[in-house]
Amino acid sequence: MEKKQVYVGIIGLGTVGTGVARILLEQKELLETRTSVSFNLKTIAELDWNTERDLDLTGVKCTTDAEEILNDPEINVVVETIGGYQPAFGFITKALQKHKHVVTANKALIATHGHELFQMALENGVNLLFEASVGGGIPIIKGLKEGLIANNIESMFGILNGTSNYILTRMHQDGLEFTDALKGAQEKGFAEADPTLDISGGDAAHKLTILSSIASNSFVKYESLYVEGITDITKLDIDFAKSFGYTIKLLAIYRRVNGGLDLRVHPTLVENKHLLSAVSNELNAIFVRGDFVGNTMFYGPGAGERPTASAIVSDIVDLSDDLFSDSAGNGRRAIKIAADVKLIPFDEITNRFYLRFFTRDIPGVLTKISGVLAEHDISISSMVQLETHEKDNYVPIVLLTHEALEKSMKHAMQKILEFDFVKENCLRLRIF
Ligand code: HSE
Repeated sequence: MEKKQVYVGIIGLGTVGTGVARILLEQKELLETRTSVSFNLKTIAELDWNTERDLDLTGVKCTTDAEEILNDPEINVVVETIGGYQPAFGFITKALQKHKHVVTANKALIATHGHELFQMALENGVNLLFEASVGGGIPIIKGLKEGLIANNIESMFGILNGTSNYILTRMHQDGLEFTDALKGAQEKGFAEADPTLDISGGDAAHKLTILSSIASNSFVKYESLYVEGITDITKLDIDFAKSFGYTIKLLAIYRRVNGGLDLRVHPTLVENKHLLSAVSNELNAIFVRGDFVGNTMFYGPGAGERPTASAIVSDIVDLSDDLFSDSAGNGRRAIKIAADVKLIPFDEITNRFYLRFFTRDIPGVLTKISGVLAEHDISISSMVQLETHEKDNYVPIVLLTHEALEKSMKHAMQKILEFDFVKENCLRLRIF
């Protein structure tokens, strides 16, 4: 019997695109053995052909013009690996309109324009897959859509940004300050070209938006998430967290509570006995609780050429099933939107808190701070003050609290900052 043929075009031969090309060329036989389908890398569109990539592209058409892929009737799967909004959005929409299946790793685009892109794919009888958009090589999208399909997802706690996890790990393990740790992450190539989205929590929020939409079968809006990054964390906070038995991690949180969703991204003190505290360096992990399966954890490399390409090629293989069956373009692989979900306003959520102040070392400071907390119904569970021997110096004071309302904590912090003995650069983190 004649082998079924899939013809692939890649738009963007950066880190991830190079990995996809490498797999399609080097693992061609393996893929054929496993699927009985022949995957042919036909064309690559890339503007920069001067970079050395250590790839033998004999037999592959190399161009600077993406239109050569989009207008080629033989190409049935287009891989978009340029990232960002434009021109990626334009290329994907054109590919869909030309009835080509599309695979992308573009988390920002799926998180913000996924809704319209899935609709467009459906209207054109093709599919748009995005496994690599969250967790790099970790099969978390398939994990949720297939492996855990029988479950209501009760909660997810994810370390979804490799750069910020690498930075926090270096701060924990090597005692680096934030800026030096960030430099290391950039040198290692984990950070985006502009690392703002990595360290501000925006990248993790894009990924949480995607996971939450899948888990809740609703259209979660990226702008509606509470997002806080890691830029205010100092080595001192890392040391305090350690002394209390915690590791600071940037967590993306999904919780189903009281008929609504609690969705947020922020740095969090994770107890050292929790598996997530041991997820180090650029690695990602997602701890998922389903109502039937219980607790599961997905763990692995969340970025990089080979892991991300591994996820993209798994999508290409899935699409080959669609290409040669009647299920092509029936939308079964899109995010299913069944209902609107109510988001719990962030102010109404309760958390335990880590509070760090710098205050003058004078009589009455603790009484006044704890008085404000008590007025707001916030109870302290632990307290540490570091000693200073120099008169007029500010000293760090750290308080851990019991569960308290976000709204109450916000108001209490505003009041505490009005004291003239408190410096402005205080920090409030949540405890998991
Ligand atoms: N900059 C991202 C990260 C790359 O650090 O996780 C993968 O999305």
